[in-house]
Amino acid sequence: MDNKPTFLWGVATSSYQIEGAVAEDGRSPSIWDTFSATPGTVLRGATGAVACDHYHRMPEDVALMAELGIDVYRFSIAWPRVQPGGSGPVNPAGVAFYDRLVDELLANGITPWVTLYHWDLPQELEDAGGWPNRDTAYRFADYAGLTYDALGDRVKQWTTMNEPWCSAMLGYVVGAHAPGRQDARAGMRAVHHLLLGHGLASQVIREKAAAQDRLDGLEVGITLNLGVPTPASDSAEDQAAAHWEDGLSNRLYLDPLLRGEYPADIATKVAELGSPLPVQDGDLAVIAQPVDVLGINYYSSRLVRSTPVGDNGWPTPEAVDRDVERTAMGWEVTPEALTDLLLRLEREYPGPDWYITENGAAYDDQPDANGYVEDIDRTNYLRSHIDAALAARAQGVNLKGYFAWSLMDNFEWAFGYDRRFGIVRVDYETQQRTPKQSARYYADRIAAEKANEAG
Ligand code: FCB
Repeated sequence: MDNKPTFLWGVATSSYQIEGAVAEDGRSPSIWDTFSATPGTVLRGATGAVACDHYHRMPEDVALMAELGIDVYRFSIAWPRVQPGGSGPVNPAGVAFYDRLVDELLANGITPWVTLYHWDLPQELEDAGGWPNRDTAYRFADYAGLTYDALGDRVKQWTTMNEPWCSAMLGYVVGAHAPGRQDARAGMRAVHHLLLGHGLASQVIREKAAAQDRLDGLEVGITLNLGVPTPASDSAEDQAAAHWEDGLSNRLYLDPLLRGEYPADIATKVAELGSPLPVQDGDLAVIAQPVDVLGINYYSSRLVRSTPVGDNGWPTPEAVDRDVERTAMGWEVTPEALTDLLLRLEREYPGPDWYITENGAAYDDQPDANGYVEDIDRTNYLRSHIDAALAARAQGVNLKGYFAWSLMDNFEWAFGYDRRFGIVRVDYETQQRTPKQSARYYADRIAAEKANEAG
């Protein structure tokens, strides 16, 4: 621990996006298995049934990481592998996979960084109401405890949730992600219960760590997707639209986690719209557990203008196109906004160690005959965003690390295998992995930054 570098470089993945082996060793179905098997939900009917077959190729993938020279690997645990059905005892065969992964990482000098929930809720818990159901938060805390029992002797970095905004909004309001519901009231209930689950799980992990004298070096936190919505004009309407978007996507999570209160404007408005946050006495104190690490997933930022309020009364700010490059997701490439975001976080929410836990880009890769991709666009994206992050750090932001999304091409949710975010190419026919130019760039950049830091 004493030799820990002051800035960590990593790559990130998530369980459902890479593992495959969905019915092996006792894993039960998750909401993503059910959703992706439903016609019309995922592009070309793709599912995570095989994905990158990482479950069977894990040592090869760890070796790839070691070649890149990364310090730390952020991966997620599949809840339905560790605790099938989302309740009851652990499944030893499921835990064994993560045991092996952690050992393999450590043997390669790579720090394991666990995310407990990256969207693969056990289907049984969705059948019982999912995140809109308060009990799911308590189930999550139980699962967090079981997982800590299994891995806490070796894993120090624990992220509870990945992007609760996506789980709540895309899963329960928009319906573009599993479980595919379209119900604003359920969505706001999900927001609160995801945050409550985070707080309860943080408590459990710290209690267990304390009881086993393992608090030293323990870092518990959460990862949010954050952006910078900028008003398209000086008009009061556009300013209000940007403020609303900032509220619904950023402050609704940052404020309860780091200040112990929901933003009053958003809480009041959603209640007026018939979708109150189901807060019970004491909940906010649970949610506002100390956050050692606040992970930021950053991809893009939008210029927004107001639109007429629709039938349901919800404000729906709309993006205004800027004349800037876009990725294959259609997302504008806006690295400067990352510097602004980090400066704002340090100013308005000081305290946690900040990490960029995801940053990267999908492009329409063209492999050569050997499968090599000269992805100049992705390389430039990484360069400009790493520069932007380090610029904020140079201005005093307590930024402690950066993770590229993603180690390898994988199942990109509703876009299936049609959007490639990897710095390593995956040929899905052969499962061959081929580092792209961006992987070489990233490896060189890490080496150069480390040399720089060593001074
Ligand atoms: C984030 C997700 C991650 C990946 C990237 C592109 O929202 O956390 O799983 O899909 O977007």
